Amino acid sequence: MASIIEHTPPYYVGYFVGSLSKNSVNRALALALIRLAPSELEFTEIVIKELPLYNRDLDGHFPQEAIEFKASIARQDALLFVTPEYNRSIPGALKNAIDWASRPYGENVIARKATAVIGASPGAIGTAVAQQGLRSILSFLNAPQMNSPEAYISARPGLITPEGEVTNAGTEDFLRAYMVAFYEYIERVLTVVPSPARG
Ligand code: FNR
Repeated sequence: MASIIEHTPPYYVGYFVGSLSKNSVNRALALALIRLAPSELEFTEIVIKELPLYNRDLDGHFPQEAIEFKASIARQDALLFVTPEYNRSIPGALKNAIDWASRPYGENVIARKATAVIGASPGAIGTAVAQQGLRSILSFLNAPQMNSPEAYISARPGLITPEGEVTNAGTEDFLRAYMVAFYEYIERVLTVVPSPARG
């Protein structure tokens, strides 16, 4: 039985950046979200770029990178996915990382984590199609998801600096409110679903 004390902040949030690009607008967005988030949230990047391609033949004897990757997820209370859209889907690197996290069968470390998805693209739809696909994956993996607010960021050049400064006040307010909503969502999820990270 979980006690109330286990649900007090800080809440540990692992964040995924779906892009491997050095100049990623989604990495800049992730930095902006961290800057604007309530101080009760502590962030750690869940690094996806070192992972080999998932192969089920390795189930039961995962390479060290995959073992450490899964452990880094298991320590979190919540997961934030900040991703581009590639060909109306999530990038292969992110899907590969999620596949590692979900296996071997029965050892899915994404299950029961409070999750949120957000993304930026230069186009008008702001990663909406990729986010819908990601939501479907997270549903299958039994992760509670923040349904609202949704956030489809159409990122014109200069909207967010590489250091995560948001240059438009309306966008900054929106992103701050998004992170307040995620904080409140994490708190609600931890109230009814004790975090696997807290035993
Ligand atoms: C894209 N881009 C893109 N944009 C979009 O809105 N919908 C899409 O389906 C795609 N498809 C796509 C495929 C591939 C292979 C690439 C490389 C790019 C454009 C994409 O949104 C843009 O490059 C973003 O800047 C990528 O995000 P990061 O890497 O800057 O975070």
